[in-house]
Amino acid sequence: MSNSGETELIHMFKGIPFTTRSSPELLKSLDAFVAREDDVLLVSYPKSGTHWLAGVITKLYDTEVTITSPIEFGDISKLEELNNLSSKRIIPTHLDYNMLPPNFKNKKCKMIYISRNPKDTAVSMYHYYRDNPNLPTIDTWTAFFDLFLKGNVVCGSWFDHFLSWEEHEGDKNILFLFYEDMKKDLPKVVKKITLFLSLNVSEKDIQDICKKSSFSEMKNDTEKENSDPSHTVCALTSNRKLIFRKGAVGDWKNHFTPKQNRRFEEIFNEKMKLSKM
Ligand code: A3P
Repeated sequence: MSNSGETELIHMFKGIPFTTRSSPELLKSLDAFVAREDDVLLVSYPKSGTHWLAGVITKLYDTEVTITSPIEFGDISKLEELNNLSSKRIIPTHLDYNMLPPNFKNKKCKMIYISRNPKDTAVSMYHYYRDNPNLPTIDTWTAFFDLFLKGNVVCGSWFDHFLSWEEHEGDKNILFLFYEDMKKDLPKVVKKITLFLSLNVSEKDIQDICKKSSFSEMKNDTEKENSDPSHTVCALTSNRKLIFRKGAVGDWKNHFTPKQNRRFEEIFNEKMKLSKM
């Protein structure tokens, strides 16, 4: 983070960098959050395909559902706002497992964790940092690459985040999804989601939903939705153009030098040695 004048954009909470859009008071009070049994959590490390998944999931319900902004974004009034929602709540979050309000765990709320190749995630996050005035200025890809590997970016280390959730992969109330699987065969992943959420959606509707959830369709929708900030899951921007950038698998190859790739692999292998991934 190059500019010391921008340090006020970020603060640390329990060792993890958060933007000041997540107030310390809100973060502190999350432990007391009262979950509802039918809440659905949409969990991700930033830039893993959260908006894509959110777009798919909201289309699967034929009853009223509200997709909120991430639970950790906002000030203390956020909790009341969520409490006052009368419809079913779909709540995104970038929190790691250990920071998740315990009531979601006790009530065994359904949670969907979406993950993405961390190399592509890093590249996506780099562009997001560069284009988003609510995040510290990044001068170069090289500088961002180092910050990402050190976990010195919003939401902390990709590795710690993934591992904290992967530990609970066997929990019946948690579904693990991969961005790359959605790219490869979206209808297959959507069927998995409907089974997990116990939703009855016809084959034809699934095909329609997948068509409407393609990158180009979702990107095209941006114009009409730009006027309504509540349509972005990410509270760091109401500009959907920042979110629908390229939507590709393997864009890291256009950014990583061979040396960076070797370093990434080394750290990946070390950090993930106990992972089943
Ligand atoms: P890129 O920056 O690589 O393009 P998030 O929603 O978690 O912030 O993730 C944003 C990333 O998901 C961006 O990646 C974005 O383009 C991609 N994305 C969003 N909608 C998508 C879709 N329908 N299909 C494929 N990728 C999508």
